[in-house]
Order: sequence, then structure tokens, then C-alpha cells
Amino acid sequence: MIKIVFFATYELRKMFYGKTDRQATNGFLFGGMMMRRISVERLNEDMVLARTLFSIDGNILLNAGIKLKESYISKFKELGIAEIYIDDKISSDIVIEDIIKDETRFEARVAVKKAMDGVMNGNNLDVKPIRNVVGKIVEELMTIQDAMINLQDIKSLDSYTFSHSANVCVLSAVTGISMGYDAYNLKELCMGALLHDIGKTKIPNAILNKVAPLTTEEFNIIKKHSRYGYDILKQSMEVSAYSSYVALTHHEKYNGEGYPLGLKGKAIHEFSRIVSVADVYDAMTSNRVYRRRINISEVVEYLVSLGDHHFDYEIVRKMIEHISVFPLGSLIMISTGETAIVVDNNKKYPNRPVIRLIKDPYGVEYKNFDEIDLTSCNNITITEVLGDF
Ligand SMILES: [Fe+2]
Repeated sequence: MIKIVFFATYELRKMFYGKTDRQATNGFLFGGMMMRRISVERLNEDMVLARTLFSIDGNILLNAGIKLKESYISKFKELGIAEIYIDDKISSDIVIEDIIKDETRFEARVAVKKAMDGVMNGNNLDVKPIRNVVGKIVEELMTIQDAMINLQDIKSLDSYTFSHSANVCVLSAVTGISMGYDAYNLKELCMGALLHDIGKTKIPNAILNKVAPLTTEEFNIIKKHSRYGYDILKQSMEVSAYSSYVALTHHEKYNGEGYPLGLKGKAIHEFSRIVSVADVYDAMTSNRVYRRRINISEVVEYLVSLGDHHFDYEIVRKMIEHISVFPLGSLIMISTGETAIVVDNNKKYPNRPVIRLIKDPYGVEYKNFDEIDLTSCNNITITEVLGDF
């Protein structure tokens, strides 16, 4: 019985919805750039790397366009890289662009690493590289209208903290722009966001990198990173008080249940209220040694559900306006039982993207990949975000 209903829906879909306008007008559908994210476990030697991979120091590890070899795949695993972007026929012509230049993102990572290394070695904080890259991030983002975040940074095990800091900075800046911040305030917000976890330099690595659940005592030690970070930043004449407060109060919660001060509501500075949402969003959507990343749609739901409890709801709302709930290249299952890939977003209706049908309900790959715009197919819903294949 279930099968009949399911087939009826599938057949109806086949009957009524053919190619989208996008596909009809797109003569180069199977040419151009191609990209989707895939788990390293699924890689094989026929695949082509779609985005250049950089080392922790910003050096090129592998250039985009290179055909994978077994030795490269082993290296990814060794570096703790869980996923990469590849080119293949099902992701044909899906161009996923970062909202800031690759060079800028890597410069941000390197600047954070150098700042943290310096502090760990007992040196004074070198703010200049941080301020330089913050200037570039703000300048690049201010030129884009309505930036949508579709691309997720690939993090290796050892670059997590630096990539995370760069992501938190970009996401905070996008939110600040949408809240009407001027360049001066954006830069101050970004300084705080890039350096929000600098206090972790004072926490033993054995605790920071522990895979097993933390004991209460260990968690209490980790919590100290907020105050340590504030102490480091306030010593520098080049870091404003508001940027320093971000390090101190990015784990405060809107309802007063956070740490270290237990501040409540608007008593938490707005910069920190922004960074705290960006921090949680990026951490939850990242692969960690102890868990796989959580789907963006679930994380967005989680953030909304905690609006005005843990977070400032207005800020959550401003931030998620710029996050693609189903990023380009996501593999999904729809209510007909077919497997599809997201090829375009509808900004007004984030839950109704344009999709390309890849496999029928039995898992057999289609010869031709039709596209449908879900804004014009109200009877079809996205039922699951899939891993990859
Ligand atoms: Fe933190």
C-alpha cells in the first residue's frame, strides 16, 4: 500500500514537473565549474579536487583541478580532514563561491595562529596582522549585498581553532552588516570575533583536545579561557575595550545562565551577543574528532529554538537570513523518494531550493538529471539531508 501511494506521488511528479526555467535557459548545464562536498571516506582516484587545500600555515597542499591519488586520500585522513569539495557529473555547474576571497580567509587563519603562537611563547600580542586582515574582511563583505553563506570551510584537525575563529569573524561581520553597522564598528566586532578564543592558549592541550567527555573539573578549567582572553587583550593598547569584552563574555547566555559573569539580556554587549551565536553555529556545523557535523537545517532550528533563552533572538534572525539552510551541493531526499542535489537557493523561501534529481526511489541513477524548483511544487517536501555518495 505504501508503495502504491509513493509511486503515485513519484509518477505525478514525473508527469507534471519537468525541467526548470533555470535548466531550460542554461545551455551549458553539464559544462562549467562543478562542486560538491564529500566525505573523505567516499573519495576515489577518479575524483577531482574542486577547491585548493591549504596547510595550517596558509601554504598550498593541493591545487584545485588535480585528480586524486590514493596517497592524497591517505594524507587527508592523516591530517584529520573529514570532507573536501570535489568535481563530478552530478554537481555539474554548481558554482559555490565563498563570500570572502580564499587569500583573505587564509590570511585570517594565519594571523590568528601567529597571534596564538606568540602568546603561547610568552610574547606580547601582535595586533597588526589581525587588524590588517580585519580591514580586508570588512572591505570585501561591505561590497556584497545580501551575502548568502553556501560554502563551509574545510577544517583539518590542527587548524580547527584558527579556521573556526575566521568563520566566526566572517559570520559576525555579515550579521553586523545586516544590523546596519558602519565600517568602524564592524572592524571592532571582527577584532573581537577573530580573537574571541585567544584565552585558550592558557588551557592545557590535553584538556582542549580531549576526545572523551570532560569531567566537571576539566570543564571548569576550559571555562577560564574567557577571562584569560580578556586579560591578554586588555593589555594591548591597540585592542578596544569592546573587542576585549567579546573574549570575556562570548559564553554569556541571554537568560543569564552563561559564564563567567552570568550577565543577562542587553547587559551583554551586542558584539558578544553576535559572536556567541556565530561561535555555536560554526562549532555545531563542523566535524570534530568526537562527532560528525550537524546538518545546517537542524542547527538553524536549534538556534531559533534557543532565541531569547541562550541567544538574542533578533540577532539569530539577522544571522540566519544569510545562511543557506540547504547549501548548494547538498544531497537531499524528497517526499517522492528520489535523491536530489541542491543547485540553487530561493532567498525568499530558504526551505524551497531548486534541486536536480539524481536517483529514482530505488536508488538507480537517472541518465538525464531533471531540475525542479520547489517553490512551484508545493506537494514535494525535503524529507532528509543525506550524507554523500
Ligand atoms: Fe570560547
